[in-house]
Amino acid sequence: MTRYDEVFENNRKWVEEHTHRDPNFFSRLATSQDPDLLFIGCSDSRVPPNEIMGLDPGDVFVHRNVANLVVSTDINAQSVIEYAVGHLHVKHVIVCGHYGCGGVAAAMQPADLGLLNGWLREIRDVYRLYQGELDAIEDPDARYRRLVELNIQEQCVNVIKTAVVQKQYVRTGHPIVHGWVYDVANGLLRDLEIPFGEILGEIQEIYRLEET
Ligand code: CO
Repeated sequence: MTRYDEVFENNRKWVEEHTHRDPNFFSRLATSQDPDLLFIGCSDSRVPPNEIMGLDPGDVFVHRNVANLVVSTDINAQSVIEYAVGHLHVKHVIVCGHYGCGGVAAAMQPADLGLLNGWLREIRDVYRLYQGELDAIEDPDARYRRLVELNIQEQCVNVIKTAVVQKQYVRTGHPIVHGWVYDVANGLLRDLEIPFGEILGEIQEIYRLEET
């Protein structure tokens, strides 16, 4: 763990490294941002978005919360999506969950967690949606890992339900929504290859928000 005192020293070294490589790095970033990606991930300290993707400042717009949820009444997540898709015109929206997610594990336990109850209920709702498939998995760890993946997929669905994503996609063919899972045990990212077009089609039967 980085000690508090070391942070500013680390920051100065980081600035020097970037400036050495590219003297205009920060002055260029100061004028604007034009990221291609919106990354929606878990707040977990082991899943730092830029680092795991090898990306620099300016490359990715980021939203993080416990268990990478996209909730329609969460003005924070919804504002991030609105701005990233409607104004920055990102080409890809990624919902990235991870194995080892404490939020998903907590949602599988019958415990009253106070303020977290309402938040984690979103994950219990995912469980209810796939109860047949999940209950058929005997190994508890395999069942948990599958719920991590299904939660990612359902949060992708929630992204696709938003008006800004539907309207922008119909107009421009972007953004494409992707579900990724990160493994904290080996550092590897995997694309779950959710069928974006298929989901969009199903969503638009009920949740269509763009005018025709
Ligand atoms: Co997590």
